Amino acid sequence: MILRERRPSDFAELCEIDRLCFPPGIAYPPQDLAHWLRQRGSFVIVAEDEEKQKVAGFILARKQHGSSGHIITVDILPEYRRCGLGTALIERAHERLKRMEARRVRLEASVENPSAVAFYQKLGYQIVGRIPRYYLDSIDAWVMSKELT
Ligand SMILES: CC(C)(COP(=O)(O)OP(=O)(O)OC[C@H]1O[C@@H](n2cnc3c(N)ncnc32)[C@H](O)[C@@H]1OP(=O)(O)O)[C@@H](O)C(=O)NCCC(=O)NCCS
Repeated sequence: MILRERRPSDFAELCEIDRLCFPPGIAYPPQDLAHWLRQRGSFVIVAEDEEKQKVAGFILARKQHGSSGHIITVDILPEYRRCGLGTALIERAHERLKRMEARRVRLEASVENPSAVAFYQKLGYQIVGRIPRYYLDSIDAWVMSKELT
């Protein structure tokens, strides 16, 4: 497995992985993913299974104004989970955000996604808030945050 920068030719595969990782309505439609990719300060790190020549997962993150970073999504295909890949991607994104002078990082996770919450808590994120009806105008999101040291 290698971690690498996103290439333009990855786009369709990233959309398909997001569709497989999230329920309908929560997965990003291609136009939303394209929107995030165009934002200033956004970046994607891809985990590629070199043997199978396929993308196993990716992280999309963004350095915002000031000293904050934002994790937009972390997506690992089901067959590659619980092997440390999500951890490797988020740690790489933390390093990148620090180089971009972020001092903390923030994200949203569905209150109905306990796996993601457990994953982020293991990485040192704490719940700092709750946004009502964040997803599909019906499901709340936890706001989670971590200081980058
Ligand atoms: C959440 C997700 C990114 C985790 O990726 P991963 O590569 O499986 O994570 P890791 O192997 O690095 O797991 C690190 C730790 O997180 C925790 N964790 C990960 N998945 C978990 C799960 N399903 N249940 C409970 N804890 C979990 C565990 O503590 C794990 O350590 P362990 O395997 O030694 O017990 C992956 O399950 C995924 O893509 N899910 C669908 C999309 C999603 O919900 N993304 C996050 C919201 S943006």
